Amino acid sequence: MSFTVPHAELAQLDDQVQAALRTMDDRALDVLGYGEVSLVLKLSTGDGSFACKRLPVFPDLGRFERYAKGLREYLRRLGDKGLDVADTELWHTRLPSGQITAYCVQRELPSHRLCSRLLHTEDDIWVKDFFSRFLDQVGRVVEPTLGLDAQATNWMDVGGELVYLDVTTPLMRDTRNREQLDVRLFFSSLPWFLRDAVRVSMSKSIFDKFYDTRGVLLDFLGNLHKERLHALVPAFLEQANARLPRPITAEEVAAYYRDDARMWELIQRLRQADRFWHHRIRRRTYPFLLPPRVDR
Ligand SMILES: Nc1ncnc2c1ncn2[C@@H]1O[C@H](COP(=O)(O)OP(=O)(O)O)[C@@H](O)[C@H]1O
Ligand SMILES: [Mg+2]
Repeated sequence: MSFTVPHAELAQLDDQVQAALRTMDDRALDVLGYGEVSLVLKLSTGDGSFACKRLPVFPDLGRFERYAKGLREYLRRLGDKGLDVADTELWHTRLPSGQITAYCVQRELPSHRLCSRLLHTEDDIWVKDFFSRFLDQVGRVVEPTLGLDAQATNWMDVGGELVYLDVTTPLMRDTRNREQLDVRLFFSSLPWFLRDAVRVSMSKSIFDKFYDTRGVLLDFLGNLHKERLHALVPAFLEQANARLPRPITAEEVAAYYRDDARMWELIQRLRQADRFWHHRIRRRTYPFLLPPRVDR
């Protein structure tokens, strides 16, 4: 059930994004969601609405094609494991400079079915059943070379099925534990003075958790704090620990969240400082749309 990305409309959307970057004013854009990494924009067309996730600008076609190959492989491997992934198409355009702007495009799914939202509104029975289905998926998919970023904001419950949304950062490792993703490119929204330090010292620890069921669950539970859903932690811990060889404790979840929140907050602040530097001091366009401050 794939679909064709409406080319002219997407090109137009990207023009709007470029204008927003130049003016640092994104009010004209229709934002579907803010992730930690990207902004998701809504594109309405005669053929329905789409969720368009802007990727970092690729310096050349080769870097883009490597990404495209990785994304295809990631989608295939997740599908082979029986995960229901939102149909995803990759759209790109070449700038006069030879750089490539690209978007991961999905059909827009109903935002009221986002699991982070349903966890607020549905009853205990749904919540318990959700978490048991969630544990099934994570337990089946995650392995040392195939990762999942399983936060509640990355799933929709559509027609009784959990659909996974967040594939823009394909999480795959080779047998020597090296990230297959172009980590350098995906960290390019970090200020230059941080990039190398972060890449070397943090990337392993940032990514490790995605390749291990316990790590994925700890990340999911820790992030419930951010969604103001921490009241669910005790019941979820009981459900999760019934399946884990080494149980997760409530203290571990709280400590994990404190560290994770601190890290993202620091990164956001540095990005904002970097944007200011680009725009005001160097009078250059800052190439990323930044999410608004998150209350943590
Ligand atoms: N196909 C979609 N339809 C509707 N909303 C979406 C879709 N994909 C993503 N979103 C919204 O955008 C948010 C961020 O998307 P996601 O793919 O998780 O990107 P990120 O990598 O930035 O976290 C989601 O939490 C959701 O609110
Ligand atoms: Mg996400």
